[in-house]
Amino acid sequence: MGMTNTPTADPVSPGGRAARPAGPASGPVDPSRWLRTYHPRGSAAARLVCFPHAGGAANAFVALSAALPEDVELLAVQYPGRQDRRGEPCAQDLSELAAGVAGALTASPDDRPLFLLGHSMGALVAFETARLLEGHGGPARLFVSAARPPAQDWQEPDLALVGDGELIAGLRRLGGIPEPLLADPEIAAEILRLLRADHRALLRHRCARGTAVAAPVTVLLASADPKNSPAQMADWGGHTTRGHEVVSLSGGHFALLERPAESAVPLTERIRGDLARAEASGAPAPEPLADLVRELMMEGLAGRAPRLTTDLTALEAAAGRVMAPEAFAYVSGTAGSGATGRAGRAAFEALRLVPRMLRGTRRADTSVTLFGQRLPVPVLLAPLAAQQVAHPEGESATVRAAAATGVPMVLSTFASRTLEEVAEAAGGHPRWFQLYLPSDRAVGASLVRRAEASGYGAIVVTVDATHLGFRPAELDSGYSPFLRGTGIANFTSDPVFRAGLPADADATQAVLRWAQISTDPTLTWEDLAWLRGLTRLPLLVKGILHPDDARLALEHGADGVVVSTHGGRQLDGSVSALESLPAVRAAVGSDVPVLMDSGIRTGSDVLKAVALGADAVLYGRPYVYGLGLDGGRGVEHVLRCLLTDLALALALTGCASLADVGPHVLANGDLR
Ligand SMILES: Cc1cc2nc3c(=O)[nH]c(=O)nc-3n(C[C@H](O)[C@H](O)[C@H](O)COP(=O)(O)O)c2cc1C
Repeated sequence: MGMTNTPTADPVSPGGRAARPAGPASGPVDPSRWLRTYHPRGSAAARLVCFPHAGGAANAFVALSAALPEDVELLAVQYPGRQDRRGEPCAQDLSELAAGVAGALTASPDDRPLFLLGHSMGALVAFETARLLEGHGGPARLFVSAARPPAQDWQEPDLALVGDGELIAGLRRLGGIPEPLLADPEIAAEILRLLRADHRALLRHRCARGTAVAAPVTVLLASADPKNSPAQMADWGGHTTRGHEVVSLSGGHFALLERPAESAVPLTERIRGDLARAEASGAPAPEPLADLVRELMMEGLAGRAPRLTTDLTALEAAAGRVMAPEAFAYVSGTAGSGATGRAGRAAFEALRLVPRMLRGTRRADTSVTLFGQRLPVPVLLAPLAAQQVAHPEGESATVRAAAATGVPMVLSTFASRTLEEVAEAAGGHPRWFQLYLPSDRAVGASLVRRAEASGYGAIVVTVDATHLGFRPAELDSGYSPFLRGTGIANFTSDPVFRAGLPADADATQAVLRWAQISTDPTLTWEDLAWLRGLTRLPLLVKGILHPDDARLALEHGADGVVVSTHGGRQLDGSVSALESLPAVRAAVGSDVPVLMDSGIRTGSDVLKAVALGADAVLYGRPYVYGLGLDGGRGVEHVLRCLLTDLALALALTGCASLADVGPHVLANGDLR
C-alpha cells in the first residue's frame, strides 16, 4: 500500500467537520488548528498525538487512526504552511511547532492519558513537545519512528543545494509518496516546497546530549530503513529518565505509515500496558521540575504571555488588586506594627549566597526524605486556613495543584473544605494534617482519627496561636471568615462536634460552638504527650522559635519541629524564624526533621533555609495569592515558578543535590 499523505489534499478537521480557512500568519495561533481527529472516540481511554515527517501533513495518519482499536483516539498534528494552513508560513524552528502543539493540548484540558508518536522529523517535534508538557503531567510514553536521537548529527544534506530532479528521485527511492503524486508537476512542486521548508527547521534544530524527558521511549525502527540503523538508536537511552526500547517493524523508512495494521499492534500493546500499570500503582508521579523557563519562552514565541507574573515577590500586590478587600486583608495581614512580618523577609534578604562555577551540574537533585517518605522537593504547602476566601474551590483546587507539582499539602484544621473532601481531591498524593487542638479534646481526637482514616501522613500541631495575635487589618474591617461560616468545615462535618449541638442547631449555633471550643489557651506540654499517645503518625510541633521549646517538644513526644512566626501574625516584634533556625537545629541535633516557614518567597530563600539547617520548608501566602488570582491554575503556576527557581539556585551555587547544601553556600564576610 502506498502512503496516502498528500500535501495538497483537503484534510479533515477535528470531529470530521470542514476545515476552517487559514488565518493571519502573525499573532497568536488558534490552538484548534493544530490537531485533527479522523476517528473521534470519545470513550477511548488514551489519546495518541501523532507528528508527521518533514514535508508531511496530518492526513499521513488517517490509515493508522483507522487501524487503532476503539480505546485509543488518534490526534494528528497539522503543521502550519500546508493544506488548510497553507496561508501561514512554515515554522522556522521545530521548537515553534512543539510550542504550538503543547499550547493546543493544554488549552483544551482532557484527563485521558496522553501518548506522543513522531515519525522521522516529527519524532524530534514530539520529543520537544514532551518536554514542554512535563509541567502538565507529561505524556505517559513517547513513541519515535524512523528517527535518530535528538542530540545526534542526522547527517542530512542541505536540500537548498539539491536540485528538484535529484530530490524527487530521492523521494522515489525512500518510498512513502504514491507515484501519481510525484508525477504531477504541481503536486510535486508543493511537496518539495514543504520538504525544503521543514528540512531547514530540522537542520537548525539543536539538542544537548543528556536532555531527557521523564517518559519512557519506544523506538520504532523498520528493518529496511535506509536512513537509520539499530546502532544509531542506542543514544535514545540518554534522552529519557524512564528507559527506552527498540521495536522492529518490517518495511522501509515509511513502514509506520505504510503498514498501519502492523504498526498499530506494538502501539496498542504499550499503551494498554502503561494504562494498566498506572491503574495498578495509582497516578504516575508528576515531574515537578519541568522546564518552565523554556516553556514560557516558547509561549512568548507563539505570542502568549504568562497569565500571572513569575516574580513571586510581586504576587501580593497583584492579588491585592483582584481579591475582595477583606479577604486580602485577612491573608496579607500581620500582627501589630508588622515588624515580625518585615523581619521575616529582611532576614532572608540579609543573607547572601555565593555562586560557584563549572561544577557540571545539569539538573540538581532536589529530593529529600522526611519520615521515611521521599519527596521530590524540600517544600510543602503551609497550612493556611479558610482558603475559600480566595477562591470558591478553596483547598480542593490547592491540593490538585499541589499534586500536579509534587508538593505535599499541609491541610489546616480550619480549612473551608473537609479533610475527607481534600483527601479525595488529592488522589493518592501525600498530604499532612495541621491540628489546632480544640479545648474539647474529644473533638481533637475525632479529627486525628479522621485524618488517619483519610490517609494523611503526619500531624502538625500548631502551638503558637493558642491566643490569636492582635491583627489590625482584620480588626479594622471586623472581618473573620470563621464567624461567617468559612473555615469550620472540619467541625460541622465532625460527628463528635455535632453531637455537642442540639439536633436542630442552625449555622449560627454551629459557629458559636466552634468559637467556644476551636482553640485552647490553657494548653501545656502535657497535652502534647496526650496527643502523642493518640496517634502513631509522625508528630511535628509548629511555631517553635526558642531552642528550649524545641527540646521540650521532643521530650513530650514530637518527631520534628517547624520553626515559624506564623507569618508574622502572632507576636509583633518577635525574632524571625530564620534567625532562630540555627539554634533550633543545634538543639535537636542532626537527625530530627526541622522545617521552617515565614517569609519564604523564592527558590533562593528555600536554599538559604536549607543552608541554615532546615530539611524542608513550608510555603505560605504566595500560593494563596495564586489561588486568588487564577484558582488552581494560579497555585500550580506559583509552585512551578518556585521549584524552577530552586533548581536553578542549587545549580548556580554548584550543588548537585540538597545534601551538598550547607552554611558554605552563604557568604560570611570572608571568602578566603
Ligand atoms: C491567611 C493565613 C492563614 C493561616 N492559617 C493557619 C492555620 O490554620 N494553621 C497554621 O498552623 N498556620 C496558619 N497560618 C500560618 C502559616 O502556616 C505559615 O506559618 C505562614 O503563612 C508563613 O508565613 P508566610 O506565608 O509569610 O511565608 C496562616 C497564615 C496565613 C497568612
